[in-house]
Amino acid sequence: MSQSKSNRPVIIVTGASRGIGRLLCEGLLEKNGVVYGLARHKAEMTIPDPPKRSEFIPYTMDIAQPKEIEKFYAHLDEKQDTPSVLINNAGVGYFKHAEDLTLEEWQAMVATNLTGTFLMTQGAIHRMKRQRMGTIVNMISVAGRQPFRNGSGYAVTKFGLDGFTKVIREELRKFRIRVIGVYPGATNSTWWDEIPGSENLPREKMLPPETVANAILNALAQPAEVVMEEIVIRSIYGNY
Ligand SMILES: NC(=O)c1ccc[n+]([C@@H]2O[C@H](COP(=O)([O-])OP(=O)(O)OC[C@H]3O[C@@H](n4cnc5c(N)ncnc54)[C@H](OP(=O)(O)O)[C@@H]3O)[C@@H](O)[C@H]2O)c1
Repeated sequence: MSQSKSNRPVIIVTGASRGIGRLLCEGLLEKNGVVYGLARHKAEMTIPDPPKRSEFIPYTMDIAQPKEIEKFYAHLDEKQDTPSVLINNAGVGYFKHAEDLTLEEWQAMVATNLTGTFLMTQGAIHRMKRQRMGTIVNMISVAGRQPFRNGSGYAVTKFGLDGFTKVIREELRKFRIRVIGVYPGATNSTWWDEIPGSENLPREKMLPPETVANAILNALAQPAEVVMEEIVIRSIYGNY
């Protein structure tokens, strides 16, 4: 893994307070890295007893606020920490028929899943290009490849993110920056606790969040010359 000026490999994970993002942070800390975990609620971001040579840095911010992203990268520069890996994992979803989706819900999905991911990525690209190495992981979804009823706004963001991911993958090859798109099916994380009407879903048939996190850790562990470009992963039961 490449090193930053401060001579330590730095990994950024958005959406680190729970769900897949939190498991990713735990797995990454096992590999002796410095992990910046980003989320809006710091209180939930404690990782008990990370291995001695690792450091977990919880950072409270809302990726839907462009100014907060600017401030985050300024903080990183001040510490001379250059990201070697960015995992764009944070996301929100509102699921209802298109005619019932509110403008606020639509805008929240676009601001977080698309614009937030775009700006986080731009900040990382500028810094990774200087060291001609890096990995960007974008958490998309099977909902970014196929239509699901009640998911119009969410689909806009995930189909959009799929396109963004595919284009930057080609743009960044010559800088030795790997771009990985992850497309999980329904995953039994805290995500579903907040989705109205999901009480009757068979959560035990969904993917365990550990499986998704481990697939990403495995992709990151490949040699620097190898890009696992797309990880599509579903439960044996289908979408759930
Ligand atoms: N669960 C699934 O079935 C599933 C399937 C396919 C893809 N995905 C995708 O996987 C990703 C992670 O999902 P998950 O299942 O782990 O969801 P989750 O349990 O709801 O966790 C979402 C994480 O994102 C953070 N977050 C949300 N909005 C944010 C913002 N504006 N700024 C910073 N952090 C923010 C949340 O923390 P705070 O609330 O503290 O900010 C939380 O840590 C999402 O992109 C989702 O679309 C999930």
